[in-house]
Amino acid sequence: MSVPMLDLAPQNASVKQKILEGIGGLIDRSSFILGDNVKGLEAEIAAYAGVKFAVGMSSGTDAQLVALMALDLKAGDEVIVPSFTFFATAGVVARLGATPVFVDLDPATFNTSGTLVEAAITGRTKAIMPVHLFGQLADMPAICEAAAQFGIPVIEDACQSMGARGWGLNAGQFGAMTAFSCYPTKNLGAFGDAGLTIIRDDEALHARVRRLRVHGMEPVYVHHEVGMNGRMDEVQALVLRAKLDLLEGWHAGRRKHAAWYLERLKELTPDEARLPVEAVPNGRHIYNQFTLRVGGGKRDALQAHLKSLGIGSAIYYPICLHEQPCFAGLGYSKGQFPESEKAAAEVLSIPVFPEMTEAMLEEVVTGILGFFGRK
Ligand SMILES: Cc1ncc(COP(=O)(O)O)c(C=O)c1O
Repeated sequence: MSVPMLDLAPQNASVKQKILEGIGGLIDRSSFILGDNVKGLEAEIAAYAGVKFAVGMSSGTDAQLVALMALDLKAGDEVIVPSFTFFATAGVVARLGATPVFVDLDPATFNTSGTLVEAAITGRTKAIMPVHLFGQLADMPAICEAAAQFGIPVIEDACQSMGARGWGLNAGQFGAMTAFSCYPTKNLGAFGDAGLTIIRDDEALHARVRRLRVHGMEPVYVHHEVGMNGRMDEVQALVLRAKLDLLEGWHAGRRKHAAWYLERLKELTPDEARLPVEAVPNGRHIYNQFTLRVGGGKRDALQAHLKSLGIGSAIYYPICLHEQPCFAGLGYSKGQFPESEKAAAEVLSIPVFPEMTEAMLEEVVTGILGFFGRK
């Protein structure tokens, strides 16, 4: 049996009728931009995350970009970001002419830590943007404490982690602002690009983000500043609203599969493969990815072995951001962030989508154990 890395078809089939009816109504009304669905979704996501404001954006990247624009980020400013993450986290900083300052990670969780962040703070640090990678919160109490000592705002990159929890709070409740992505592979995925900027409680910041989303315009055709066209469209908002009721069940499905993997793969030694660690007190990892670490230079061979069995897997991420060609001018060198570089050489994400059957999970487990000469 082949097992894809991700199959969105069953999930989308479960909401197809509802969405088709909604789109029928949308066509009848022919109101596609910033209508009732975006407004409704913003209220629903704010309630879901337990925050005051959510603003529908065209992507997770734009959700991050607009948050940094609302902090008046400019050339010479620095933003602390992890080196081991998706490109957008640092790309948005550079796009505004500011400088991403990279930090290493805690090898137990793939996330950065309060200590690493604090050591990178300078007089030019304008924001700290930790990432909740793969579905698990970064060490937010320690990061927020370090930031608060210097009065620096924290923006959460929760693009992979809408619904993650820890320390009694949700993703989105720690930082002044947060970015969620609804890219199709995310736990709550649109039918294209979409995202949301969360503003935890600051009304002025909320008003600024809304204005920046529409070219700095308020009222119509009066432009106070140069913003962007970062709007989420009504079709995506309708799709996301149709799916939102099912999101908790999907998180639960992913967590159930993760528990299965953790149990069935626990016989592997650390030299063979290390399994994800749930490190957050009272935490909820929502397993956007279930990511193994494969030591001894065997990661690519394991991936090839799984591929030969028809089992999908993916490497998130093979190259750290401090080693990306576009950031060569920042002066980082290989070896500077050893834990991030080690992670990039070892990570392998395996299928964990909610609709997987026991037989599919068993196929993946058998493939992995077989590679290591077990069973
Ligand atoms: C950690 C992280 N940050 C930012 C983004 C950007 O989100 P989007 O693809 O919706 O622009 C992603 C999406 O893949 C992500 O995983």
